[in-house]
Amino acid sequence: MKLKVITSNPGKVAEYQKELAEYGIDMEHVRLPYDEVQTSDLEEVVNKGMDAIIAQGVRDFIIDDSGLFVDALKGFPGVWSAYAQKTIGNPGILRLMEGVEDRGAEFRCCIGCDVMGKRIVVTGKCRGVITDSEQGDGGFGFDPVFSHDGERTFAEIPMDEKNSVSHRGNAVRLLIDALKAEKVI
Ligand code: IMP
Repeated sequence: MKLKVITSNPGKVAEYQKELAEYGIDMEHVRLPYDEVQTSDLEEVVNKGMDAIIAQGVRDFIIDDSGLFVDALKGFPGVWSAYAQKTIGNPGILRLMEGVEDRGAEFRCCIGCDVMGKRIVVTGKCRGVITDSEQGDGGFGFDPVFSHDGERTFAEIPMDEKNSVSHRGNAVRLLIDALKAEKVI
């Protein structure tokens, strides 16, 4: 079976391929522009995105959306994470968190999968804290300022360890469970 991964990021295609190859699913990278709704809810962004793609006549695909939700910032940057990363960046997040005692935060990744006429939407989460400074030079995005164990940031741990606890890893595991439950794999 083949699933299109609709994204502008080829790295995501490789990641899905790695996780789903053993179930006989092949990934195909497709760039397809679609309208993203303005809402603070990841699932709504994904569901509306799926509606827009299906309206273009495309079926059997995966899309995803992720973000960092900081408790003390009432969920900011959340669905605006990519924009926040491009504009204020990690120094901006650290500045917003200066003197803030509650460091709690959560990465979330919502995956929407249209397969054999079924719709599966799952959200993986990973709780952690915002560090006081940037630490480590691995990973990407907010990795240097997010720690799931309160000791090392995502930019300081090996990729396999990150995948075993991360929002995206958890979302892929939930997707695999759902595909099994729907007898797709
Ligand atoms: P996307 O929806 O997966 O493209 O993620 C949106 C934005 O959230 C990215 O541009 C990153 O800034 C941030 N982000 C998502 N996942 C991660 C992660 O695993 N580490 C660090 N930043 C992330």
